[in-house]
Amino acid sequence: MVPACVNGRYRLKEKIGSGAYGEVYHASDIIGDGDVVVKLQCITGSTTSLEHEYNVLKQLGDTVGIPHVHWFGREDNYDALVLDRLGQSLESVFKTYQHSFSRNTIVFIAHQLVCRLQYIHSKHFIHCDLKPDNILIGTGKDAHKIYLVDFGISKQYRYPCTHLHIAFEQTTSLTGTPAFTSINSHAGMELGCCDDIESLAYLLIYLFRGSLPWLHCSGISDEQVVEMKYNMTKLCQDLPEEVEQILTYSRSLSFDQKPDYTFLCRLLQRINSTSESCQQDHVPDWSTISPAPCKTPIGNADSTMPRRSHRLKVQAFSPCPMYSLCSNRCPRTVRK
Ligand SMILES: Nc1ncnc2c1ncn2[C@@H]1O[C@H](COP(=O)(O)OP(=O)(O)OP(=O)(O)O)[C@@H](O)[C@H]1O
Ligand SMILES: [Mg+2]
Repeated sequence: MVPACVNGRYRLKEKIGSGAYGEVYHASDIIGDGDVVVKLQCITGSTTSLEHEYNVLKQLGDTVGIPHVHWFGREDNYDALVLDRLGQSLESVFKTYQHSFSRNTIVFIAHQLVCRLQYIHSKHFIHCDLKPDNILIGTGKDAHKIYLVDFGISKQYRYPCTHLHIAFEQTTSLTGTPAFTSINSHAGMELGCCDDIESLAYLLIYLFRGSLPWLHCSGISDEQVVEMKYNMTKLCQDLPEEVEQILTYSRSLSFDQKPDYTFLCRLLQRINSTSESCQQDHVPDWSTISPAPCKTPIGNADSTMPRRSHRLKVQAFSPCPMYSLCSNRCPRTVRK
């Protein structure tokens, strides 16, 4: 049974999400008189991924687009992380808009995500699970802000004092969510900043196309997903050329290379400047216009996002020949 109240202060209300490791509840702060969310994870070992998430958030500190931590601790048999209550996930907003955002809105989202990743990377962490469910919008006057959440599998990729990069290792497991993770992650390789950028590229494609070709193909294997991910021309067909450039760039980065965030922002800006409407007002669709009537996304009739990441440790396949040709990573890694 989950606790009714956490830290004698946060009273749990309805459940708003559940993931691979825990559950997320709305809660009211009966002392501070505000709304928060409580992430709960049942304690089975000495530490939980929630405790890891708390430690990451603590090191990231309070900044734009990262949820503020109110409290972390143990309640009954659960670890509890109390966070600012944010708005809907990008996935649910996208669904409300029939999987069709304006070009400006897509660029607006992607631009903020580049800034979030740049910040996280500057604090020595990689997110490792960038996807629409882990991106939330703000509420009220912050409805135009894009937040990155779920740092449960984030990883410190370099040593804070020396900036020495962690060593590269090859393992047999995938990190993140197959639909949005990098090709190297499918092959069980240690992730670096480049892999967050590659996930961002898939997210961009997802937002432009309304779906991804490998979503909702029942029985599709990891190998088939990877083959589709390799086929950049097909993947980026009919999309602004900058999208393919971003994907190509992410794959050209080596394991320990620092991404050029300014270059990424410039490419995004170019998508906007070539847009017919050419609005530069940076107001997302959800702040101004009602959801559009139903539209079939490019290349996929069923645009519903599959539930949940296979977030950790699924068996990786041996790298295919295409992989070996394209990879420019050094052949070593470390895994969580
Ligand atoms: N601060 C928040 N404010 C509002 N909603 C939130 C917040 N944090 C999480 N959520 C909701 O709960 C969902 C799950 O949160 P999160 O991804 O952090 O948990 P998780 O258990 O790690 O989930 P998963 O394993 O599915 O990734 C989010 O997609 C979002 O809808
Ligand atoms: Mg999540």
